[in-house]
Amino acid sequence: MNSASRNTFSGSLGFVLAAAGSAVGLGNIWRFPYLAARDGGGLFLFVYILLAITFGFTLLITEVAIGRRSQRGPLTAYRFFNKRWSFIGVFAFIVPTIIYPYYCVIGGWVLKYFVQYLTFSGSSAVSDDFFTSYITGNLNGMWEPLVYMLAFAAMCFYVVYKGVEKGIEKFSKIVMPMLLVLVVFICIYSLFISHTDPSTGVTRTGLQGAYVYLVPNFEGVTFSKLLSITMDACSQLFFSLSIAMGIMIAYGSYMKKDVNLGKAVDRIEICDTLIAVLAGLMIIPAVYVFMGTEGMGAGPGLIFVALPKIFHSLGVFGPFIGLAFFLLVLFAATTSAVSILEACVSSTMDAFHWTRTKSIVLLQAGALVASVIVCLGYNVLYFEYELPNGAKAQILDVFDYLSNNLLMPIVAICTCVLFGWVVKPRLLVGEMRLNGYKFLRKKMYIICLKYIVPLILTVLFLNAFGLFDGIS
Ligand code: PHE
Repeated sequence: MNSASRNTFSGSLGFVLAAAGSAVGLGNIWRFPYLAARDGGGLFLFVYILLAITFGFTLLITEVAIGRRSQRGPLTAYRFFNKRWSFIGVFAFIVPTIIYPYYCVIGGWVLKYFVQYLTFSGSSAVSDDFFTSYITGNLNGMWEPLVYMLAFAAMCFYVVYKGVEKGIEKFSKIVMPMLLVLVVFICIYSLFISHTDPSTGVTRTGLQGAYVYLVPNFEGVTFSKLLSITMDACSQLFFSLSIAMGIMIAYGSYMKKDVNLGKAVDRIEICDTLIAVLAGLMIIPAVYVFMGTEGMGAGPGLIFVALPKIFHSLGVFGPFIGLAFFLLVLFAATTSAVSILEACVSSTMDAFHWTRTKSIVLLQAGALVASVIVCLGYNVLYFEYELPNGAKAQILDVFDYLSNNLLMPIVAICTCVLFGWVVKPRLLVGEMRLNGYKFLRKKMYIICLKYIVPLILTVLFLNAFGLFDGIS
């Protein structure tokens, strides 16, 4: 497809909201607060923000510039710069094709919870085994997770089918402001709750929880602990900014040449970090009030298992807060899933000159088969596999591991090598400066791209194989 007939975002705002929509996802809502709580609250926040303006910024701006410069989707973008390195494009295309099917399964879970609260039956989600019986099909049968997954995928299909400006941009412009309002609303609510534990008589307040979250805790901080906090922050940033998934290349390729690229990237980062920090402020005080500091390390089960209990404890307002919360998570998950699907669609449109309709129909059909397999991975296709890092995994975790721990670091490392050493940073820096962006961090950007980021990524990559387990 030539650039004249290429879909574009209408302007900077459309691009920023769509890209922020991709970046703000489940990672911001459950993973960020959980890591922050585990890694010393304010200390984690400090390390995270420091890394966001160096490590995260470098990778994000590079990908957006690759897209806008080449005007191609991820599959063919790398070939535009250097034929020998076109293999990175293939990996950058495989990543979203692996992620999309399982993201739809998780999106289906979120949709189920949303419907549960919408139909005033949120209280049944309180029982300990509600979530497990739901995904394993023991609640209402195996068809249920499949139907919700299908409904979630149908929403994404529709938005992407409508195209870049009329679908993705329009959707993001409606959903992102609502998402922000919901986060702020629940945050305020969460800060002002308090609860007295009947067995101990101890009263805890939301404001105390916010203190635990925001004030750095240096207790027991050693060098190796600091190292592990840094690694957590890096891997979180990587995932949170939707880097190495081909998404930012695709979105960058839809950005008009007269948009100030650097400024837009700054805004995406601010938005993503702000929502992650606010999500912490919304979840951590509530968890602290009802479960104390131990509850704060609840991990991935937090959204589906711990939070419904908290909503229940909130009394009359609980079901409404639960509804608002799952609507917010649904918005965050949909804008992210849409971006993954678009990364795949833009690739096949550019590489094989397929129309949008043909691309999306074929890709969605393939993804559905994979999503069904992932869903059944908790039921008839159940198996327990041990990952190289020792974790026990089902099909969804295997997909997640393959993309996040294996392919994404490879894509990002190769991108740094290609643009830091082979093509030379000058080319992309020129693209970033097209519209008068005062590139104050240019020197830092080049040093990060050539040395620091590939080094950090290599450590992260090796860490996925448990290589540093003995150290920390
Ligand atoms: N960036 C998203 C988040 O923070 C994650 C994501 C987006 C994953 C798009 C896949 C695709 O949750």
